Amino acid sequence: ARQALIAPSILSADFARLAEEAAAVGGPDGADWLHVDVMDAHFVPNLTLGLPVVKSLRKATEIPLDCHLMIEDPDRWAVGYAEAGAYNVTVHAEAAGDPVKIAKDLRAAGAKAGLSVKPGTPLESYVDVLKHYDTLLVMSVEPGFGGQSFMPEVLDKVRTARRLVDTGHLKLVVEIDGGINADTIEQAAEAGVDCFVAGSAVYDGKDPGKAVRALRRQVLD
Ligand code: DX5
Ligand code: ZN
Repeated sequence: ARQALIAPSILSADFARLAEEAAAVGGPDGADWLHVDVMDAHFVPNLTLGLPVVKSLRKATEIPLDCHLMIEDPDRWAVGYAEAGAYNVTVHAEAAGDPVKIAKDLRAAGAKAGLSVKPGTPLESYVDVLKHYDTLLVMSVEPGFGGQSFMPEVLDKVRTARRLVDTGHLKLVVEIDGGINADTIEQAAEAGVDCFVAGSAVYDGKDPGKAVRALRRQVLD
């Protein structure tokens, strides 16, 4: 079934005020998931936050946490995020040694399992692996930084994934991440996205809650 989930990314929030920034997108018509970008300065050329911050954030908000691990060796680290109470833990296909085992570990720890592909990574190689996953995160920018421009060429992967889900071959939430804003969200929705990550479009403005509602309204219309 198609959904229109909005997942604000706290990468563009004020890291010294994370609880307030989460509250700003909370509430009944607020964020469906809170997207948490974990970067290790190795898989991507940027460093953000890790397990201690996720553990604290889990206590500070009721919004389900969507942890996007842009890290090397997710085989070792991913399950810790599930144990910390993340709702969904997404690892990168390019970094995963044994993606099927990771998915099983995540589910056994009570989380949804997500697999992400960078813009240049084809979906074909991962179709069988994706049978073990709950979420597919299609990157629509090179991972590492917020505020980059949307890459429409990745929408072909979204269409392929949508087809595989709609024909019953896979059961996945199709999520997109990077450059999603008022100008790009509709083409992503038309291609078949269920869950939209938005960082700068939500947190760069004065009213993050209003930005979340406006994005959702655009894809529901
Ligand atoms: C980038 C991160 C994204 C980022 C998106 O590597 O994975 O989640 O926060 O930021 P925007 O929405 O500004 O492109
Ligand atoms: Zn992300």
